[in-house]
Amino acid sequence: MIDLATTAAGGGKLDDGEHARRLPRGGPDPADPRPRLVATPAAARASGTIRGTVLPSAPATRGPLVELPPVTEPQPDPNAVAPAVANLDVIVSLAKRRGFVFPSSEIYGGINAVWDYGPLGVELKNNVKRAWWRAMVQERDDVVGLDAGILMHPQVWVTSGHVGSFSDPLVECATCRRRYRLDELPGTEELTQTDIKDPGIVERLKLACPVDGGKLSAPRRFNLMFKTYMGPVEDETAIVYLRPETAQGSYVNFKNVRESTRKKLPFGIAQIGKSFRNEISPGNFVFRMREFEQMEMQYFVRPGEGATTAFEEWLPKRMAWYQAYGVIPSRLRFREHAPDELAHYAKKAIDVEYRFPFGWKELEGIHNRGDWDLGNHARVSGENLEYFDPATEEHFIPWVVETAAGADRAAFTFLIDAYREEEVRGEKRVVLGIHPDLAPYKVAVLPLLKKRPEIVELCHRIKDDLKRQTMAVYDDTAAIGKLYRRQDEIGTPWCVTVDVDSLEDGKVTVRDRDAMTQERISADQVTRYVTDKLDAARPRGL
Ligand code: GAP
Repeated sequence: MIDLATTAAGGGKLDDGEHARRLPRGGPDPADPRPRLVATPAAARASGTIRGTVLPSAPATRGPLVELPPVTEPQPDPNAVAPAVANLDVIVSLAKRRGFVFPSSEIYGGINAVWDYGPLGVELKNNVKRAWWRAMVQERDDVVGLDAGILMHPQVWVTSGHVGSFSDPLVECATCRRRYRLDELPGTEELTQTDIKDPGIVERLKLACPVDGGKLSAPRRFNLMFKTYMGPVEDETAIVYLRPETAQGSYVNFKNVRESTRKKLPFGIAQIGKSFRNEISPGNFVFRMREFEQMEMQYFVRPGEGATTAFEEWLPKRMAWYQAYGVIPSRLRFREHAPDELAHYAKKAIDVEYRFPFGWKELEGIHNRGDWDLGNHARVSGENLEYFDPATEEHFIPWVVETAAGADRAAFTFLIDAYREEEVRGEKRVVLGIHPDLAPYKVAVLPLLKKRPEIVELCHRIKDDLKRQTMAVYDDTAAIGKLYRRQDEIGTPWCVTVDVDSLEDGKVTVRDRDAMTQERISADQVTRYVTDKLDAARPRGL
C-alpha cells in the first residue's frame, strides 16, 4: 500500500502560484538572488534570454498582424508606472452596478473569496476564454484540448507533490485569533524565501498582529488544497481533493492524448477549468479567490535544450496575447523567479506581471517543469509514459513547458486596463475601451423614438438578425444620449440607431464607441458591417 504522506517525490518547496506576493519590492541587482525582472522581449532577445519571436505570417484577408510592441523597462521604483485606475473601488463598483461581478451568496452576507459573474461578466469571461482557446488551440496545429475532471485519484496529488508541499506560511494572533500569510504582513516586503522558512522570523523581525498588535505565533505551513469525501463513507480512505491546478489532468492523460491523436513532439495539451485553493489571505476582488478558473497549456518537448527553446518561444507569445487584446504594454512586464522562489516542479519560471492598482502582480506563469510530473507519475503509477522518437530511435520521458494563466485575472486585467474617464462637451464620459472580441455586447440597437411602432419593429428585426451571429441588445429605457453613455460604460463597440428617416431610406446610424463617429448604412447591411469589423479587429498569428 502506498503511504500517502511520504510518496511525494522530492522534498522541494511547492509554490502556490502567487509568486508576485513574495516579491521584494525594489530594482533588479545582478548579485541579488531574489526575483529578477526580465526586460522587454526585444531586449531579452538581444541579451540572449529570449530567442526569436515568432509571429507566423498569415493570409492577407484576415485581421492585422500583431507586432509585439516593446515592454517598458521595469522601473526600480514600482510606482513609476501608474496603474490604469488609481482606485480599485471604481472597478468594483462598476462591476456590481452593471452586472459584471457580484459577491457570492450576497443575501446571506457573502462568502469570502468567491465571486459570481453576472450577465455581462459571464460574457466577458467567456470571450476571454474563447480568445485564449483560439490562440492556443484553434489556430495551432501542435496543441489539442482536454477537459479533465476536477476530482482526481488522490494519489495524483501525492505524486505531484501537492499533498506534501502545496502550502503557505501561516501565523496566528494570540489575542484576536486572526490568521495571516506571513509574507503579506507589513514589514515582510524584503523577505527572501530563506527568511520565510526561518521558524524564528516573527521574533527576529518583531512582527505583530496588524489589527490589534497582538503576539503572533511562529509560522506553520498551511496546505492550500480543499478536501472532500467521495462516496457515502466520510473517513480518511474517502478523501479526495478539489484540484488546485488543471495541469495534472494533462499529465495523467498524456498517454491517452498522444495515442489517440498520434501527435509527435513537440505538442501541447490545453485546458480551461476551475481550480480551488484555500488561500489564507484572498483579496483584491477577483485577483485572488478560493475558487477560480485557469487556462493552462502543457507543452511536451524533448528533454534539455528542447525545453529551453520552447520556453523562450512561449514567453513573447504569451506577452503578445495580452497586448493584442489591448493591455497597454507599459503596464506589463516579465519577472523571473529567484532560485529559492521556484515552485518544487520548476527548473525555471518567468511571470507575466501587470501593474494592478495594488502593485505589480502575476498574471500568468511560464514554467520549465522538466520531467518532474511525467517522471513521477510514471514511477509511482508504473505506467510507461515514455515517448519513442522514431527519427533517433530514443525512448525518453518528455519535459514540459507550461503556460499557466488565470481566466479571472485576465478578465479583471482587461476590465481595468480598458477603463477610462473622458470629458465630452463638458460632461464626464466613462468608457470601457475593451477589445471588440472581448466586449460583452458587440452591438446595441436603439430607437430614436420608442413611441413609433415601425421604428421599434425595425430595431428588433436588426437586433434579431445580429443575434444569430453575435451578442446584441435592444434598449429603449432612456433618451438616446443616455443610452449611448450606458453602452460606452459597458464597452459596447457599436450602437445602431433607428430614426424616422430610416423608415424612408432604409438606413440607420452606426456610432463607434471610441471615435464617437457616426455613419449611415443600410439596415440590411448591419450584421455584415459588424461581423466584418469584428473579423478585422481579431488578432491573429498569436
Ligand atoms: N499549473 C501551474 C500553476 O497553477 P500558478 O502560477 O500557481 O501556476 C497559474 O497559477 C495562474 O492561475 C496564476 O498566474 C493566476 O493567474 C491564476 N491563479 C492562481 N491562484 C489564483 C487565485 N487564488 N485566484 C485567482 N487566480 C489564481
